[in-house]
Amino acid sequence: MTTAPTAGGAPTSFLEVRDLRIHFPTDDGLVKSVDGLSFRLEKGRTLGIVGESGSGKSVTSLGIMGLHTVGQYGRRKARISGEIWLDGKELMSADPDEVRRLRGREMAMIFQDPLSAMHPYFTVGAQIVEAYRVHHDVDKKTARTRAVELLDRVGIPQPDRRVDDYPHQFSGGMRQRAMIAMALVNNPELLIADEPTTALDVTVQAQILDLIRDLQKEFGSAVIVITHDLGVVAELADDILVMYGGRCVERGPAEQVFHAPQHPYTWGLLGSMPRIDREQTERLIPVKGSPPSLINVPDGCAFNPRCPYADLPKGGITRTERPELRPVPDAGDGRPHLTACHLPQQDRTRIWNEEIAPKL
Ligand SMILES: Nc1ncnc2c1ncn2[C@@H]1O[C@H](COP(=O)(O)OP(=O)(O)OP(=O)(O)O)[C@@H](O)[C@H]1O
Ligand code: SF4
Ligand SMILES: [Mg+2]
Repeated sequence: MTTAPTAGGAPTSFLEVRDLRIHFPTDDGLVKSVDGLSFRLEKGRTLGIVGESGSGKSVTSLGIMGLHTVGQYGRRKARISGEIWLDGKELMSADPDEVRRLRGREMAMIFQDPLSAMHPYFTVGAQIVEAYRVHHDVDKKTARTRAVELLDRVGIPQPDRRVDDYPHQFSGGMRQRAMIAMALVNNPELLIADEPTTALDVTVQAQILDLIRDLQKEFGSAVIVITHDLGVVAELADDILVMYGGRCVERGPAEQVFHAPQHPYTWGLLGSMPRIDREQTERLIPVKGSPPSLINVPDGCAFNPRCPYADLPKGGITRTERPELRPVPDAGDGRPHLTACHLPQQDRTRIWNEEIAPKL
């Protein structure tokens, strides 16, 4: 199902996602992987999307890229609705050929596993050349020069030689860099990095994150970094969106989400965040319990079964009432800070200040 743009009209933001829903019909029922997600992103800014495994982060990014119907995700026909506005164009109602044209040129994606995103039988250089020539009418030699330039830019040593290597001849970190080079070859204005560092060791992770930050400054693109680890986006993101069970439970400026988080799930994520001043061996406190079913989503707050504050009084609001995203009062610098939790504001502030923050 595809919807026509609503009466809201074209937005002024570079990227605006409105009420995105991506559902997959399965034998067990309808999987609501993304269920009513909205956010905005400007050029030159970075949004971090954070949540546990299965919260809908990858499906969201594939949906924005128009890729939810291909590859492993295309096994089943997705039902998708909402609006995705990129630079004044609405992509959901656009011609698929137009979206294909934009993909790789105006928007590009870095995947979690470069081996699955790069073809094993073609050299790294050939794949970057191909990505460039799809969108530029240039000869192979010119495109190859561009590929070498990009490999150099992302820190591959001896790029003029390594350009002829196959992906398996690269280390994990190098492959990730090569994929970044491939994503950047057409100077995309929107870059989505889906778990760009999970497969890498800590030092290489830091290098890749620095690289993304430098490139963003240089190219001025809008960047979405997707991760299950809040630490990854601590320094990188301007804004953070916390996903739980296919929905946004908290969204706001990064400094607010880190220093005055509002949702009990965000508190849990902060408690499970690795920190430099903690021993590597020290066990982190994960959020207790397991993620919700995306098929039989219960009424009310999806975090309820895991929430330590579920039984606190909520001013007469019942358990079956779903908390909507609402602005946090007095949230600071004017950029909206929103949360979906029934706890009264004074309780949230007290719990954070007295119970959570001192233990982090
Ligand atoms: N084609 C599909 N058919 C059915 N369910 C799907 C399909 N694609 C994704 N899902 C389900 O949607 C949910 C969200 O998946 P998604 O890959 O977006 O999670 P994620 O937040 O990226 O997790 P991770 O951190 O593990 O990458 C999962 O429960 C997944 O099983
Ligand atoms: S609405 Fe209730 S159950 Fe949900 S996060 Fe808030 S306090 Fe916890
Ligand atoms: Mg994922």
